[in-house]
Amino acid sequence: MDKLQDAIDILKEYHQDHIIRLLEKLDEKHKQELIDQIHSIDFHQIMELYNNTKKEIEFKESKIEPLKYLDKAKLTEKQRARFDELGEKIIRNGKYAVVTMAGGQGTRLGHSGPKGTFKLDVYGKGKYLFEILAENLKEANEKYHTTIPWYIMTSRENNKETVEFLEKHNYFGYDKNYVTIFTQSELPLVDEDGKLLIEKDYKIKEASDGNGGTYSSLRNSGALADMKERGIKWVFIGGVDNVLLKMADVTLLGMAKEKKVQIASKSVVKANPHEKVGVFCKMNGHPKVIEYAELPEKMAEEVDRKGELKYGESNIICHLYTIEALEKASKEILMYHSAHKKNSYIDEEGKEVIPDKPNSYKFESFIFDAFEFFDDIAILRGKREDDFAPVKNKEGVDSPKTAKELYEKYWNKRKN
Ligand code: UD1
Repeated sequence: MDKLQDAIDILKEYHQDHIIRLLEKLDEKHKQELIDQIHSIDFHQIMELYNNTKKEIEFKESKIEPLKYLDKAKLTEKQRARFDELGEKIIRNGKYAVVTMAGGQGTRLGHSGPKGTFKLDVYGKGKYLFEILAENLKEANEKYHTTIPWYIMTSRENNKETVEFLEKHNYFGYDKNYVTIFTQSELPLVDEDGKLLIEKDYKIKEASDGNGGTYSSLRNSGALADMKERGIKWVFIGGVDNVLLKMADVTLLGMAKEKKVQIASKSVVKANPHEKVGVFCKMNGHPKVIEYAELPEKMAEEVDRKGELKYGESNIICHLYTIEALEKASKEILMYHSAHKKNSYIDEEGKEVIPDKPNSYKFESFIFDAFEFFDDIAILRGKREDDFAPVKNKEGVDSPKTAKELYEKYWNKRKN
């Protein structure tokens, strides 16, 4: 009884009267489930995030500068050999692990399953995105006579389907003992008046809270402890949808080791000022990525004396951390960004409403927001044709068509 009253008090305090009315209508089972969920939600945090949606993002107070990088294509032979040797040693000695963030939904792509289960039409037969990633890691395993532990982050929404898919395909030949699947954290969705959305099973509708949740989820799931137990010293974190992603680049790894940094990342040159990629920079002396949706137009278009984009190093989600850095990031609280999105919900009559325009806010933290907790980052500029072929949109730029072309071109070049 107290639990119910406490839940009602919380809902009153945060003006969620529609949920109080819902509680009154539910059968005992659903009521208990909803009460438990109410007690698991930090309403104060959610309302603060909602209130922040009314504020503009301001970078004015901050000192923003371009970030230095090394261009992989311009390294001297000696430099390259040194980096590669250092990187190889780490991988060969079993001190390297890889994380794939596969918690996002492929909504923009129009694919209904988990994004990694999307089949890209390459070389006639086609390949699933998870298959392409597994092949990339298997190639490294063969080359360095090891098996790299592979951690895959899913979300509540796609975990079951992802596990079933990988089981069905026998993990694409990857040793199952080296694959760990863990689930990321979530946050409620809030409508334009600050009311939490309700979903089909009369629960508060929650959704993945962005790829910044990777750090705490690694920790809470026990994956981080598992890495430490295995003696892992360096961890790579990448996305699921770049079919040219190199998850075991010894040059990047060796460069990070040589430069004695705790974090590193690979970039490619931005294709045009308005490409939808985050860009690296330094803010108040710390490394940072400004996401495309938040990049002021003037900054996006700014050029240096050579006529090159001043903020032209794109984030391709190719991040590297020492295990200590990952541990530190997992204890930090990251900022949240809000996205105004279309989300279906159940109204007070119990009917499903499918909106035709954005009706609610989704709160997401970004993985790269943890960079600012570090003094330095080593950036290695790669090549677009070797490193970046994302599958994001159904058609046009960054679509299956463009990714297929880039993927086949890359592999044809390697075969010859
Ligand atoms: C992302 C980057 C952007 C970069 C671009 C390159 C972030 C926040 N943004 O943008 O800077 O230039 O890719 O392609 O990293 N994911 C989760 N859980 C979530 C949300 C996302 O695991 O809650 C995963 C996705 O499965 C994917 C990756 O994070 O692997 C990127 O997410 P996505 O939403 O596709 O980011 P973009 O907007 O494309």
